[in-house]
Amino acid sequence: GGEGHIEDFAFSFEGPFGTYDQNQLQRGLQVFTEVCAACHGLKQVPIRTLSDESGPGIPEDQVRAYAADNFEVFDAALDDFRPATPVDHFPANTSLGAPDLSLMAKARAGFHGPYGLGLNQLFKGMGGAEYIASLMTGYTGETKVEAGTTFYENTAFAGGWISMAPPLADEQVEFIDGHENDLESLSKDVAAFLMWTAEPKMMARKQAGFIGVLFLTVLSVLLYLTNKRLWAPHK
Ligand code: HEM
Repeated sequence: GGEGHIEDFAFSFEGPFGTYDQNQLQRGLQVFTEVCAACHGLKQVPIRTLSDESGPGIPEDQVRAYAADNFEVFDAALDDFRPATPVDHFPANTSLGAPDLSLMAKARAGFHGPYGLGLNQLFKGMGGAEYIASLMTGYTGETKVEAGTTFYENTAFAGGWISMAPPLADEQVEFIDGHENDLESLSKDVAAFLMWTAEPKMMARKQAGFIGVLFLTVLSVLLYLTNKRLWAPHK
């Protein structure tokens, strides 16, 4: 019971200067599309943002093809379904009661405490991506059936038993460039992708923060010197 165990995975976007790894986001998109999208929606995410330079950075023509090949959306004007285009959002998917994953990396914290102080969050970050990767790798193989529903034991899931069957396994997704595809790599890739969907402007935010701190530092020095100069005659 209680809070699950979260592995402190290393991600490129951690720390004040961390950035998303474009190749990893592209791999994560592939994992999401081939595996997670069967049950989970991503309804807050406009498909066109897959071209963002600070995101997966996929060329626009490829994004157009990706949208049309993978998703159908209901068009009220046509009163029918049509292939998705980049201006559409990823579809919602509520068929199996699986939660939407758009903001999941921010909705879950990987790190807490100690003693409710939140110090682990200060030093290790919120850990939403770590939570997702830990969830993917946290299955023990034990199952139980309760009221007709199968639950799978998972060391990361609060309470220890989740109704989602293990979605990933070694070599489940093949990458065109032959990149590593063991369970842990696939888990980290999809977790990084879901961190980006939840916080697509992370890089801009960090940059603005850095410029702010730099500006205030310079301003402090100038004010200190001005203050000294102003009071010098009275000493
Ligand atoms: C729940 C991720 C694939 C069905 C979840 C949660 C996450 C997640 C983060 C929320 C856990 C929480 O509440 O803290 C993923 C990822 C997938 C994937 C990254 C692909 C790699 C699937 C698939 C299915 C599925 C293929 C269906 C066959 C569910 C269900 C829940 C869930 C039913 C609710 C579980 C519960 O609350 O007991 N998933 N999922 N997921 N997922 Fe998935």
